[in-house]
Amino acid sequence: MKTREVVIAGNWKMYKTIEEAQSFIYELMAMGTNPTSSIYIAVPFTALSAASTAAKGSSIRVGAQNMHDATEGAYTGEISGKMLLDAGAQFVILGHSERRHLFGETNEFINRKVKAALKLGIRPILCIGETLQEREENKTENVLQNQLESCLSGISENELRKILIAYEPVWAIGTGRTASSEQAEEMHRFCRGLLSSKWGGEAAESISILYGGSVKPENTRALMEQKNIDGVLVGGASLTVDSFNKIINYQPINRY
Ligand code: 13P
Repeated sequence: MKTREVVIAGNWKMYKTIEEAQSFIYELMAMGTNPTSSIYIAVPFTALSAASTAAKGSSIRVGAQNMHDATEGAYTGEISGKMLLDAGAQFVILGHSERRHLFGETNEFINRKVKAALKLGIRPILCIGETLQEREENKTENVLQNQLESCLSGISENELRKILIAYEPVWAIGTGRTASSEQAEEMHRFCRGLLSSKWGGEAAESISILYGGSVKPENTRALMEQKNIDGVLVGGASLTVDSFNKIINYQPINRY
């Protein structure tokens, strides 16, 4: 039995219209979710308002996949935390590797976003992870340390407790090549150790660290059995109700 919050999170990326998002949520609600896990779904901006209305009264939390750190301003094409709140977002994914690699986001920018989200009461899911090249060059721990320290710079212990961390090795995202549960556990343990050295053991032990990268119904259980893996952040397999629901109910014993 996990003592930390167990989080099953879907990241829809650039998929689903408003209507598709609503139907997904209604169908998932009708299936009855695992009461021992928190369910998060990061929807496209356009579906935020409708999806959060659809999920009202359920345990499903709806959130966004990115935000700007400024409250408002001349930032064409960007969206602020204030706007996300207005549209019903309860959390936001920050520093996803697709944002870092395709859109050039730096650790410093992500750090500002984390602070802005916390200030507004939007829960950040901070993503970190190494590329294949970095792994092959044995730089994984350095990369994770640098990302964690920079993205969480200036964060207090109390603030840290509100954050979810997602370890997503870039080479495992959308490739069908998941990290083995032991590989993932090793990195989760490393990250928790790092958090402990900066913010103390008690805070580090309370933080849920999710794994992301080719999570499927078939591999969820093995991942979740690891001591330091407290949840999963799911891309492709969160797009159909059937597979996402199987992931949510990875532990048949908890079904009701
Ligand atoms: P996949 O599950 O499709 O590999 O994507 C993972 C991811 O990027 C979640 O944020």
